[in-house]
Amino acid sequence: MTEVVHAAWLPDDAFAAIGSRRVVVAGDGALTGTVAEEVAAATKRFGGGFSRLEVGDGVADAELVLTLAPSSGEPVEALVVSTTSATDPTADESFRFTREAGAVVVQAPNDAGLLHGLFHVVRLGEAAFDGPDADETHAPATDLRMLDHWDNVYAHPTTGQVERGYSGGSIFYDDGLVRRDLARVERYARLLAAVGINHVAINNVNVHEHEARLLTDDLGDVVRLAAVFRRWGIRVHLSVSFASPILLGGLSTADPLDQNVAHWWVRVAARVWGAIPDLGGFVVMADADGGPDPFTYGRTHADGANMLAAAVEPYDGLIHWRAFVRDHRQDWRDRSTDRARTTYDHLRPLDGTFSDNVVVQVKYGPLDFQVREPLSPVLAAMPRTRVALELQVTQEYTGQQQHAVYLGPQWSQLLGFRFWDPDGRDDGSPTVADLATGRGKAAEDPGTGTWHKPAGGFAAVSNVGDDEFWTGHPFAQANLYAYGRLCWDPTLDPGAVLDEWVGLTFPGAPDAVGQAVHAVLDRSWETYEQYTAPLGVGFMVRPDHHYGPDVDGYEYTPWGAYHFADRDGIGVDRTVRTGTGYAGQYPAPWSAIYESPSTCPDALLLFFHHVPYTHVLHSGKTVIQHIYDTHFEGVSQVEAMIGAWSAASKLVDPRVSERVSERLAEQLRSATEWRDQVNTYFLRKSGIPDERGRRIY
Ligand code: GCU
Repeated sequence: MTEVVHAAWLPDDAFAAIGSRRVVVAGDGALTGTVAEEVAAATKRFGGGFSRLEVGDGVADAELVLTLAPSSGEPVEALVVSTTSATDPTADESFRFTREAGAVVVQAPNDAGLLHGLFHVVRLGEAAFDGPDADETHAPATDLRMLDHWDNVYAHPTTGQVERGYSGGSIFYDDGLVRRDLARVERYARLLAAVGINHVAINNVNVHEHEARLLTDDLGDVVRLAAVFRRWGIRVHLSVSFASPILLGGLSTADPLDQNVAHWWVRVAARVWGAIPDLGGFVVMADADGGPDPFTYGRTHADGANMLAAAVEPYDGLIHWRAFVRDHRQDWRDRSTDRARTTYDHLRPLDGTFSDNVVVQVKYGPLDFQVREPLSPVLAAMPRTRVALELQVTQEYTGQQQHAVYLGPQWSQLLGFRFWDPDGRDDGSPTVADLATGRGKAAEDPGTGTWHKPAGGFAAVSNVGDDEFWTGHPFAQANLYAYGRLCWDPTLDPGAVLDEWVGLTFPGAPDAVGQAVHAVLDRSWETYEQYTAPLGVGFMVRPDHHYGPDVDGYEYTPWGAYHFADRDGIGVDRTVRTGTGYAGQYPAPWSAIYESPSTCPDALLLFFHHVPYTHVLHSGKTVIQHIYDTHFEGVSQVEAMIGAWSAASKLVDPRVSERVSERLAEQLRSATEWRDQVNTYFLRKSGIPDERGRRIY
């Protein structure tokens, strides 16, 4: 493990405003203890005062009061510490923030809310105490704000210690063992708590044979990790192998309808929750690499999920059932099959049949976390199912933390998408965030008039490893930060979230630093899209590791990720009229919008249509000229990013500056490679020269 670890968004100085004041923490409950420790450390460091009040005490004269309080309406003077709280991160996590003449009171009904309230004050810094009187109540959009680790206990021969990990090894495991020293995990849990994450899955969804044992022989390791996360209001979840009854139980089958299998899971669940009473639940990937799944026995996803759900139900456990169906045994010669259709085809008929404690976890796009994909229609198709939106914080397809790509804008756009509204105006129909959070009236499905089940919430694949900066690229920390903040409030402006991250991470830095970070990151998602795969066509990456360009890398494989470029045109015909029919999986009006190239948004044109290179986009450019222009522009943008950063790089910690500069250099090299390969490929295919006569090879 690396010795020096970057403080990320919780450097000591981020606590200066709190630490220099007279602070009172009142109430009990384990997380109140955590809050008190934070405040005690900060006030010691910055010369403020700290007192901890117990039940029955009155609140002393203080500049900041953090207190458990059942009634939220009372003024500060009247507050008497009166409540105890069980530590349950899924209980009401709200808090009330009031400021009167510069004195701040944070009141929360539960200690989880108090912890969130503390970090709210940290985020605001001096601004928490400045400004006019205020009285605000804050609550998360959903109580399921989850981060999934694809960490293997043993370094796997092909996928390594962390599958799709770009930040070194695992912070949990080191070649076969849970780390003895979990100090780093503790720091990590603290960082996550500060952005509002409250559920963490601690092992890879592709559960290999050794990792399967976390459920039985190695349960003690899970107990240790859960204890660390618990102090920060985070519940641990375990990825389990569907084949466990065979792998671990000595049974001959994992058939979900077999009584012995069901009983085996009941016994295992009793033991697991006996050891970890607040375990969040199990994460299951039906279509994991190898091994039997429900389909092996002619059963459905619901049969599999519900059998597990029954076993964990007595403990309020959840089954996160990953809806990812890889279907990677396709034939590129057969254009009628379509991987994008698969998940919907399997799951839509099962809507309404999943148990209440099953969350169906759906990747945002129908393919696989590409830089641009339409929202998975599955999210709109299951109004009677708890659906979770799954994102990738790890940048598998967006530069693998070598490239600076701030994903906040992408996620914000996805979260705000309305399946039933053509213009993106707020017409009252649900956004994707509403579908995942099951919020109020907005959760009514206009298509069917039925109500969504309770929230499935959010899940995302972590980008963290044992790297000095946690995330490889120091700026990739901003993605983890933004994910947490957007889970808490999906309507936050990603630019403002980036400001928060800059303010916390570089406290006291000159404005030029924030300006440079914005110059690098604000348009970085679009920039990455510009120099990589055009117009939503996706997958032009090198197979297996997925870094760098390879236009035909997947073209003649069974993986179902094709672009079908020939001398005349490019794109996948997914229309109902002449293509795979995928566009018809959307509700109106988007089914019609995507169906026609004249209404399909340019950004997704090649996802839905096969068009000639001379097809004119809404932008007025031909497809081929768009490809050339965006690839040249993308590289120029990266050059501009480097220019912007070089001006500010001397103003931050040289370690950060050096790492960012090194990564930007690689980004430029890689973007140039992308530009040249993609442009050359399409010049050769189409024979149509660049209007502007730029150099293409
Ligand atoms: C991607 C990724 C795999 C992973 C899969 C998943 O396909 O490349 O490594 O197994 O997503 O979501 O499980």
